[in-house]
Amino acid sequence: MAEVIALEQVRKTYGRIVKTEVLHGIDLSFEEGTFNAIIGQSGSGKSTLLNIIGTLDAPTSGHVYISGRRTDSMSKQALALLRNEEIGFIFQHHYLLPEFTAFENILMPRRIRGKINDEAYDYAEELLRFVGLEHVRDNKATELSGGQQQRVAIARALVNRPRIILADEPTGSLDTKTTDTIYSLLRDLNANYGTTFIVITHDRRVAEKTDRIIELTDGNVELDITPE
Ligand SMILES: Nc1ncnc2c1ncn2[C@@H]1O[C@H](COP(=O)(O)OP(=O)(O)OP(=O)(O)O)[C@@H](O)[C@H]1O
Ligand SMILES: [Mg+2]
Repeated sequence: MAEVIALEQVRKTYGRIVKTEVLHGIDLSFEEGTFNAIIGQSGSGKSTLLNIIGTLDAPTSGHVYISGRRTDSMSKQALALLRNEEIGFIFQHHYLLPEFTAFENILMPRRIRGKINDEAYDYAEELLRFVGLEHVRDNKATELSGGQQQRVAIARALVNRPRIILADEPTGSLDTKTTDTIYSLLRDLNANYGTTFIVITHDRRVAEKTDRIIELTDGNVELDITPE
């Protein structure tokens, strides 16, 4: 299997005067098409790690490779392009554009990429159906429930057909039923499109259904296991 992401000795220090190291030399690699969970206590470094994996933040030292390309020597523009083409992000707070409809929000990353054509419209419609939101297609983001907004955010993360999806507590604010619906959706995508997932969750029940659980403790990988 191909390696889609690799981290080598990634360290992260915050603060200029008082320096605090929050990641202490992380080595990890992720195989294409796998579904990975990151767990760990609050403050253990999960979001910091995910932001570094997604090149939203740079490590203080060490290297991050995406699809075999070393990211630390790349320009800001090159990184933005790499993210737009290869990575879909889902956050706990979904940052939809409030003035735009569900459909337009889903389509937005394609607009940003400048690749709007019939295929883009068709795929956005397909994703809208996939997340079960045809009936609220033309509602503005502010006219959607929390769970619906999160499903829009998921469809939006998929519209550029990324190889990798990074999600930080994607169901953190949702009830159990909506959480289950969203995870089965993510698993379907993983199975049908071979998309690689790295998902932060505090929900053990969710983590146990993945291919791999990585547990962070105080900025170190404490556990790296395949659940039964
Ligand atoms: N921008 C920042 N400046 C300084 N310290 C930071 C910054 N971001 C995070 N930290 C610190 O780094 C550590 C790891 O934070 P991080 O957000 O990665 O934790 P987390 O595991 O995602 O926690 P949670 O489960 O609460 O989201 C924490 O001690 C936090 O206070
Ligand atoms: Mg976090």
